[in-house]
Amino acid sequence: MAEKILVTGGAGYIGSHCVLELLQAGFVPVVIDNFHNAIRGSEELPESLRRVQEIAHQPVLFQELDITDEAALQELFRKHRFSAVMHFAGLKAVGESVQKPLEYYRVNLTGTIRLLETMKAHGVRNIVFSSSATVYGDPKYLPLDEKHPVGGCTNPYGKSKFFIEEMIRDLCKAERDWNAVLLRYFNPIGAHESGMIGEDPQGIPNNLMPYVAQVAVGRREFLSVFGNDYKTDDGTGAARGGQDLGLPSPWVHPGPCPHPHVPTGVRDYIHVVDLAKGHIAALKKLKENCGCKIYNLGTGTGYSVLQMVQAMEKASGREIKYRITARREGDVASCYADPALAERELGWKAAFGLDKMCKGIPSLARWALPGLCPPSLTPLLPVPGEDLWRWQLQNPTGF
Ligand code: NAD
Ligand code: UD1
Repeated sequence: MAEKILVTGGAGYIGSHCVLELLQAGFVPVVIDNFHNAIRGSEELPESLRRVQEIAHQPVLFQELDITDEAALQELFRKHRFSAVMHFAGLKAVGESVQKPLEYYRVNLTGTIRLLETMKAHGVRNIVFSSSATVYGDPKYLPLDEKHPVGGCTNPYGKSKFFIEEMIRDLCKAERDWNAVLLRYFNPIGAHESGMIGEDPQGIPNNLMPYVAQVAVGRREFLSVFGNDYKTDDGTGAARGGQDLGLPSPWVHPGPCPHPHVPTGVRDYIHVVDLAKGHIAALKKLKENCGCKIYNLGTGTGYSVLQMVQAMEKASGREIKYRITARREGDVASCYADPALAERELGWKAAFGLDKMCKGIPSLARWALPGLCPPSLTPLLPVPGEDLWRWQLQNPTGF
């Protein structure tokens, strides 16, 4: 019989892509979500899941439920026999978490404690948890491997991820029949290739790529690039040394992005479908009675903000205006993963990594001097840009 997997927060951006992967892998996902950051569809389902059903040609089981509601969780676990839980539900806006710390701790921490207690009461002891590279704080070295010190988070959101990791680790230590895979996501972007599901931030997007996509589609005038004076090291050799090109600031570039290598912030952008496949690999790991395991989910390659702008210009064929503004408080210069452990132990690797994208380009670093653009960046373009653009074009105002 097909295994039932409880997916908390499964109507959200990453959760909905995972629900689709679960269906396609032959699992029966049961989704709970309280619509805090999901759109109600015309049917009983959230709009994201209605579309997942359409893509998969399979029904999705859904219940509106808040993870802090213990009685409702108990009832749910009486109704279904789950073999594992994928736990996405929670609040995730860093800035908001600084304004509303108690709300973040209540939902993320109390919600997770109630979930774990209910799992325990019903004999469900397998969990995959959505953690974040934010637990590493300011990187002491790059690329970030799982042994890098954690806990240097500066905001309640990041701290809640760190606390939950610690809680689950303690639980697995105390009770040996628990298995947990804590997945530290780097920067998920992109959308399913159908263009039917994707990220739909409400209000002004906090994160780079949804903002860039909205500029491309004409919903916003220009992107604010937070700082161009980083000593960034993007893992490709780009901007190493971090010279400032001395662009006047604020500065709106007039045409196609001319300087993809000015030293702007560098991140490891991972396609959301790759990320979702990582969760299926994690479920398999749980079956080995693995205890508590922690894996980075990233590509291993960093891209600068302006490289991402250029990628989106290429994907959309549209100009993306931007202004260089001050750094955003709390931002680190560079952050990218060493994903080797996930490859070794989960058999998972991002399919849209630099290796694949740059195949056949022997000397990328040659072009990586600030101010020098390669003759064509086509092989550098992360495919997520194409999928993100398809999603944005088909859904200019979201779901
Ligand atoms: P999302 O906001 O799109 O999805 C979260 C879902 O949880 C939403 O549908 C929301 O309605 C639901 N939810 C919120 N509070 C709830 C509650 N009390 N009870 C039930 N449902 C609730 O976010 P996402 O980008 O899909 O992120 C999923 C998880 O991954 C989150 O835990 C997030 O912190 C983590 N994560 C996200 C990123 C990222 O960049 N998107 C990076 C690292 C980690
Ligand atoms: C954000 C979260 C972090 C989370 C991570 C993964 C913040 C402060 N941090 O970090 O907790 O783990 O996502 O999803 O929200 N940028 C611009 N202009 C913009 C937006 C972003 O220049 O309008 C730059 C940033 O300075 C950064 C890069 O783009 O260099 C990526 O930013 P963002 O998408 O917000 O991700 P993170 O900063 O990695």
